[in-house]
Amino acid sequence: MMNFDYYMPTKLVFGCGKVSLVGTYTAGFGKKAMIVTGRNSTKKTGLLDRVKKYLEEEKIEYHVFDQIEENPLTTIVAEGADYARRHGCEVVIGLGGGSAIDAAKGIAFLAVNDGDISDYIFGKPGHGALSIIAITTTAGTGSEGDSLAVLTNPETKDKKALKSPYVYPKVSIIDPELMTTLPQNLIAATGLDALCHAIEAYINKRSNPVSDVLALKAIEIISENLPKVYADPDDIEAWSHMALANTLGGMVIDSAGVTLGHGLEHSVSGLLNVRHGEGLAAILVVMMEYSYQASPVKFANIAKAMGVDTSNLSVEAAAANSIHAVKKLLDKLDLKFTLGSLGVKEEHIEWLAENCIKTMTYAISNNPKVPDVEEIKKLYRKCL
Ligand SMILES: [Fe+2]
Repeated sequence: MMNFDYYMPTKLVFGCGKVSLVGTYTAGFGKKAMIVTGRNSTKKTGLLDRVKKYLEEEKIEYHVFDQIEENPLTTIVAEGADYARRHGCEVVIGLGGGSAIDAAKGIAFLAVNDGDISDYIFGKPGHGALSIIAITTTAGTGSEGDSLAVLTNPETKDKKALKSPYVYPKVSIIDPELMTTLPQNLIAATGLDALCHAIEAYINKRSNPVSDVLALKAIEIISENLPKVYADPDDIEAWSHMALANTLGGMVIDSAGVTLGHGLEHSVSGLLNVRHGEGLAAILVVMMEYSYQASPVKFANIAKAMGVDTSNLSVEAAAANSIHAVKKLLDKLDLKFTLGSLGVKEEHIEWLAENCIKTMTYAISNNPKVPDVEEIKKLYRKCL
């Protein structure tokens, strides 16, 4: 018998040009906003200026916090929360890729919860957050569709998500036109992150009928459209599909969770600050080879969703074909990374395996096949 909960309270505002509504939606939650963004990209593209103009049109006072870098730090979130409190901000607008949105969520949360955000990341309950508006410029993290904010503690190197119902964005504006200015290597890396979200949520022991439907659809959309936007970043039709799949990816990891791929990767980018999607590219095939025989029907369905003709194949053969399909996709996207090429060395493996158990046990235990610490070390070595 089916037995599950599904909860996703974010209003999704989807379509080309919809960023122009940011003032209107922000006005519903307050008159003082904080814009959380990166140092460069939204300035270079003119997007930050556009957002400021839309806020001015609605007479919303805004303060720009443009200190966000890839793999955002808990210390930046603490600075941002202090900034939000000092300026009396009521709404936090995350503008950019997953790093900007995750940082915005952390800031909105910490602005009303005392102490160190790392305590909340490791399970201390909070009691609220400032209102959050997410405007995503990448198709990767899916942060606009989930209650997660992945942050790295620079002292311990722990990279782990704050998961709190208070950090669901009130409104997420998903405007595919904003994605067309992404550099090609970021298109590939972020898109692969979205694919991993969908695959890991689908194979997750905690998946449910809603997340399964959404995850399979996301896998199908990404397989078809990620190579298109990679080859032609002006293909707005393909971008609109990718934008949808990205949000679906966020929704399914929110509901079902990630598994071994993210479990292994977070410790790598926590330690060495590598690009998340590139770390995943180095891990995904090894993770699938380790896992597919423990859930053959699901991996066979992944192969089918990725365009493999499985009609004359046994379930086991079809499942194995999901790995070939992923390898082909990685080739098309020029994602030829190993953990070695990203800077991981044999001397890091002990720390990585222990950190992975410390920070990502939940994800690893929900993988169809669950490795112990010795197997985790072997998996890392295979990715070198
Ligand atoms: Fe991810």
